Amino acid sequence: MTMPPHVAALLALTGQRLPIVQAPIESAATPELVTAVCRAGGLGGLALTWDSPDEAAAKVTALRHALPGAAFFANFVLHFPCEGLEAALDADVPMVTFSFGIDAARIARAHRADAKVGVQVGSVEGARLAIAAGADVLIAQGVEAGGHVQSTTPLATLLPQVVAVAGDRPVVAAGGIASAAAILRVIADGAAGTMLGTRFLATREAAAHSDHKAALVAAKAEDTAFTNCFDIDWPHAMHRVLRNSTFTAWEAAGSPQPPHRPGEGDVVFRQNGADHLRYCDMPPGPDAIGDPLGACLYAGTGVGDIDSVEAAGDLVVRFGAEVLAGFSSAQHERVTA
Ligand SMILES: Cc1cc2nc3c(=O)[nH]c(=O)nc-3n(C[C@H](O)[C@H](O)[C@H](O)COP(=O)(O)O)c2cc1C
Repeated sequence: MTMPPHVAALLALTGQRLPIVQAPIESAATPELVTAVCRAGGLGGLALTWDSPDEAAAKVTALRHALPGAAFFANFVLHFPCEGLEAALDADVPMVTFSFGIDAARIARAHRADAKVGVQVGSVEGARLAIAAGADVLIAQGVEAGGHVQSTTPLATLLPQVVAVAGDRPVVAAGGIASAAAILRVIADGAAGTMLGTRFLATREAAAHSDHKAALVAAKAEDTAFTNCFDIDWPHAMHRVLRNSTFTAWEAAGSPQPPHRPGEGDVVFRQNGADHLRYCDMPPGPDAIGDPLGACLYAGTGVGDIDSVEAAGDLVVRFGAEVLAGFSSAQHERVTA
């Protein structure tokens, strides 16, 4: 089996063995999830945007001990202050990724700490800016993505545009990818690797509510919506979620803006002693009580390919084997053509 050269370039840069990256799925990206993904040969990542410096340093240090010498990354959403970035770099995080912003000074700071830098982009203009700012890896996020979405462009359109301007920088494709076949498709279109968020949300190690995971298993692509419905804590930001009771009631009311949304001000779930209001952008965690299915249930269009909640390591191994077999048969077809 020969690894396609653009895939080999990504693996050489990041140290992962398989072209599978676990997306930073907010608080669902537990250290256990990152560890399982990395041990199985993928690249796992923490979402540290909302962590204090002490919390960020503790998580990075714990992962460095759990994964000696292995790569993993920490993500920061630059729309927010990202108070843990310096601490994560000081704790020797091997790689950082930035999204919702391109900041040459922070990229240079990460490079001074010997960290590799990935930048998520949603347009070819964003890709050009990220390259000029010094990104080592581009993450091309299509509009199919679950969670907050930078892009308005389908991945099949965006990916070749980003690859065309990326030069020798690896491009990781994100958005709607939840099967080995989908991974092979985007690699054939020029992606050096893939970033999967929704698929990893439906794993045992992800800190998501069990009802959310079950809803992902049951859903199809058409059960998702690209919307600004759940925008408390991040006003006007677009995201992709499951069309649940809160969403359909809001849609039926004509998609009014705050404070005129149906059920505005209701507590939709309670978790760790805190109330979370309907339309808040926080998905329910494992311990949420109340109406977790009425909360913000992030999901990308790849949900139709999710048919079980499994251990993350098993998922990476299974997808990895199918992807490597796909590389071999593509090579065999080239040789015999
Ligand atoms: C529950 C959830 C939370 C997410 N949180 C973040 C985040 O904190 N930072 C970020 O850059 N992207 C975040 N994303 C987006 C992912 O980085 C990625 O672009 C997306 O999951 C890819 O699409 P997919 O979900 O269809 O695989 C999140 C996605 C999900 C599903």
